[in-house]
Amino acid sequence: MESQECGWLLYISLAAKCGGEPYRVVGFVAVLVVAFAVTSLAHWVAPGGPAWGRYWWNRKGVGIGHAIPGPRGFPVVGSMPLMAGLAHRKLAAAVATARSPAWRRLMAFSVGETRVVVTSDPDVARELLASPAFADRPVKESAYGMLFHRAIGFAPYGTYWRALRRVASTHLFSPRQVAASAAHRAVIARQMVDAMKSAAAGAGGGVVQARQFLKRASLHNVMWSVFGRKYELAAPESEETAELRSMVEEGYDLLGQLNWSDHLPWLAPFDLQKTRSRCSSLVPRVTRFVTRIIDDHRARLTLAADDFTDVLLSLHGNDKLSDADMVAVLWEMIFRGTDTVAVLIEWIMARLVLHQDVQARVHGELDRVVGPDRAVTESDAANLVYLQAVIKEVLRLHPPGPLLSWARLATSDVHVAGFFVPSGTTAMVNMWAITHDPTVWDDPTEFKPERFVVRSPDQATEFPITGSDLRLAPFGSGRRSCPGKSLAIATVGFWVATLLHEFEWLPPSDGPRRGVDLSEVLKLSCEMTAPLEARLRPRRAV
Ligand code: HEM
Repeated sequence: MESQECGWLLYISLAAKCGGEPYRVVGFVAVLVVAFAVTSLAHWVAPGGPAWGRYWWNRKGVGIGHAIPGPRGFPVVGSMPLMAGLAHRKLAAAVATARSPAWRRLMAFSVGETRVVVTSDPDVARELLASPAFADRPVKESAYGMLFHRAIGFAPYGTYWRALRRVASTHLFSPRQVAASAAHRAVIARQMVDAMKSAAAGAGGGVVQARQFLKRASLHNVMWSVFGRKYELAAPESEETAELRSMVEEGYDLLGQLNWSDHLPWLAPFDLQKTRSRCSSLVPRVTRFVTRIIDDHRARLTLAADDFTDVLLSLHGNDKLSDADMVAVLWEMIFRGTDTVAVLIEWIMARLVLHQDVQARVHGELDRVVGPDRAVTESDAANLVYLQAVIKEVLRLHPPGPLLSWARLATSDVHVAGFFVPSGTTAMVNMWAITHDPTVWDDPTEFKPERFVVRSPDQATEFPITGSDLRLAPFGSGRRSCPGKSLAIATVGFWVATLLHEFEWLPPSDGPRRGVDLSEVLKLSCEMTAPLEARLRPRRAV
């Protein structure tokens, strides 16, 4: 029997013996309250707070001398407040104000009953993300509630997850597939430019809000690749896309929130934040929506695999998916592919509105490489060296997943940065802290795309952002890194080049911040709080 259970049995038998009637009940409750307080305090004093204290208590303190350092937070809830709001900034501040520099390498803290470690060091991040012990993810109640444990992002590491990744890598994310879908992106880019042009012409002073166009364009793009559905951006929003957009927004909200029951399981029956009931209403809507599309595909009776739904339907043997699994996989692709791209493009455009000198340099490059007589194509991307540097600099300053979106879970006892990390611990990388660390980057808070421009042939090659250098790995690294990164990079590079080739993006107002508010809000991705507004001036006559 675990020492904790023994302790509680002792308390209860003590309480039961307490006093005679009528004081027995009062005594019983009093002993339990005192016992709860004493146990909570005993757990709380350990480095890292109550969840870590409970772990060491159960091990009778063996090895506590080598415990990972970290804040205690509060009894019972631990450092739960650190994870609310802008968690990446709060965690970075906790490390910066720590007594020991060791916290930067690995810091332990408790979120209720969840043991967590976080690193703000690129070398430890590499060690952690590459380790097979961290190939799983902690599954939140909302992820289960929304079926995501059957999709790539939250499926446990194993045969099913490997099969899904293989299918997605071959049929959706391979270089050949990414190139094949370039024509879709070009059609949507043109629609976006036309829609923005007419909005700017109709608006007072040509000021438009970019977000609505970017979100609809991203949604149409994934709908085309995943479901084979095509929409017109200038047309009023169809019922189908409006329904899907509202489901994605609800899903984002649910998955992005800090759900207390994930960390204090005794709260779960009360569903205080309505997570379970909201998931229960969302899932039938998603299932109905995706099943209808799957049925449409089945009815077409074509053998050609035009989109990802066709691909999933054509699988056979061990790879064949049940309808329920197919719904989960398709829904995740729509869900993951929509907002991330729009969020990143909005940050890029915001920086370019704010830094007009950088925008002028990008315009110069576009004029040199593309010229005014034709539209940008995806094959221009390789020659738009300065624009690539701008995108990297924005990913550094505003990584859409500052804590790499979804954490990892230790599936076995493991050593990280020389510390023992027990199985069942949640592990996070604070990518935002790394990309803002003055010991890693010069002038980390300055917007300087030049830092990514390869100046001479003897300088090391381009800075890789796909996970091999953890100083900037916005798509994660290792087995569970983002499978959609090439698609995302291609889409973002091409659409940003098009939007800049077609328009001058001018500040909506004067003043030092030029009407651009860079405040951020952390949902599932880290977004701009206030949607970007810009005055668009067309640059090309055609
Ligand atoms: C700017 C765009 C994007 C960013 C910054 C981004 C970032 C990330 C990050 C940080 C992770 C976690 C990586 C880790 O744990 O090491 C991730 C996972 C994932 N991303 Fe992306 N992503 C983007 C676009 C996309 C797109 C377009 C898709 C698909 C259409 C996608 C699908 C996924 C999936 C399925 C996972 C889970 C992978 C797994 O657990 O095996 N992402 N992404």
